[in-house]
Amino acid sequence: MRVILCNTYEELSKNAAKLVASQICLKPNCVLGLATGATPIGMYEELVRLYNAGEIDFKDVVTFNLDEYYPISPDNPQSYHYFMNQHLCGRVNLAPENVHILNGETDDPETECDAFDALIESCDGIDLQILGIGRNGHIGFNEPDDALNTSTHITDLTESTIEANARFFDSIESVPKQALTMGIATILKSRKIILLANGKEKHDAVSQLLTEEIDTEVPATMLKVHPDVVLICDREAYGDV
Ligand code: GLP
Repeated sequence: MRVILCNTYEELSKNAAKLVASQICLKPNCVLGLATGATPIGMYEELVRLYNAGEIDFKDVVTFNLDEYYPISPDNPQSYHYFMNQHLCGRVNLAPENVHILNGETDDPETECDAFDALIESCDGIDLQILGIGRNGHIGFNEPDDALNTSTHITDLTESTIEANARFFDSIESVPKQALTMGIATILKSRKIILLANGKEKHDAVSQLLTEEIDTEVPATMLKVHPDVVLICDREAYGDV
């Protein structure tokens, strides 16, 4: 795992955006895997800036989002549909038919998840996957457990994730208890992965990435089997302060 250590959140965001922009320049019809949460917001801001400056074009870019709460309506401001629209899709020239986000309102989550994996396959897989990391080491919504799921699936959220994500909702009771998420293999099939982490709340999870061990109780450690992962983090997350 290559590490890019940054002094500020701005530097982290610019480094991440630079890698995404290079991917788009290299392959204008690339397939991006995208993440939500507070961490990638600065990267999206920078990508919008690069787009407005005429440096990147999203016309032929295809995107797949990692996860979505379940159940949730796309109009709910806490949904990942809403998030993506606000931070990227509504601000650049991504074609709506090229944007794929799991449907948090489906009555058949299994079919929805299987169709999502099949669609990724039919696009020849993800070229570049962006990931954040949960305080408990989750990636997407692959929560710590004694066994992990390979493909896209419905999952229960852990108490710690519900508590961590309650900051975005009116109350902890309004946080959905389940989510749809890409599985570990769906993520690991991506050709390149960028993992973003900032702040001291992420230090425990990040420090587990820097050991030799793989532990399903820290799902992000599964990334150690992937040949091309770049961890972009600040000094607080890295523990170098
Ligand atoms: C959520 C998302 C993850 C994200 C994590 C961290 O649970 N499902 O994909 O990485 O939160 O979010 P934040 O960046 O807000 O700390």
